[in-house]
Parts: sequence; C-alpha cells; structure tokens
Amino acid sequence: MEIPKYTRSQLALRNGQDKPEIWVAYKGRIYDVTESRLWRKGQHYEHWAGQDLTKELSDAPHTEKVFEKFEVVGTL
Ligand code: HEM
Repeated sequence: MEIPKYTRSQLALRNGQDKPEIWVAYKGRIYDVTESRLWRKGQHYEHWAGQDLTKELSDAPHTEKVFEKFEVVGTL
C-alpha cells in the first residue's frame, strides 16, 4: 500500500492541540507518536510535534532508534 504524502500545514495540525493525532516528521517520514507517554499534548521536553524535527535530533540524548517502534503514517 502506498504511503500518503502530507504537506507541512497538514502535519502542523497534528501538534497535539488541534487534532487527536500526534505526528512528528524525521528525515522525510512522518511518525505517529500519539500513543507515547513522552509526547503527551504534543510536547517532548522543549520540542513540539506537528513539525519536521530532523535538525533537532542532534539536541537529543538519544539516536533515531527511538522511532523504530512507531508507525510511519506518511511522507512529508
Ligand atoms: C532536549 C532534547 C530531548 C531530550 C532531553 C529527549 C529525551 C528523551 C528521553 C529521555 C526519551 C526516553 C528514553 C529513550 O528512548 O532514550 C526519549 C524518547 C523519544 N524521543 Fe526524545 N529527547 C529530546 C529530543 C527529541 C527530538 C528532537 C525528537 C524528534 C526528532 C525526539 C524523539 C523521541 C521519540 C520518538 C522517543 C520515543 C518515545 C517513546 O518511546 O514513547 N526526542 N527522548
């Protein structure tokens, strides 16, 4: 099945405030982190969902391995 493509404005609505889903983009892929306790209300430490956070990963104490357990819901 083909993975849907979303625009930045569609992604922005999944920021944990405007719609029930919470999404984060990383390296062109959009991950659904709605089920994560660590992304409640769209906030993760000083980072916010609904955006492309590729550049921000270097601020994290972890690698991109954290995305492995999340479903890719689309591409950006
Ligand atoms: C100040 C920056 C950050 C801090 C202190 C931080 C801290 C953490 C910690 C402690 C965990 C759980 C332990 C672990 O899996 O290593 C975690 C998980 C995670 N982080 Fe970060 N992080 C930061 C930035 C980011 C950024 C920028 C992203 C996205 C590009 C991100 C995405 C994730 C994801 C997807 C998880 C997995 C959540 C889960 O398993 O429920 N983090 N982070």
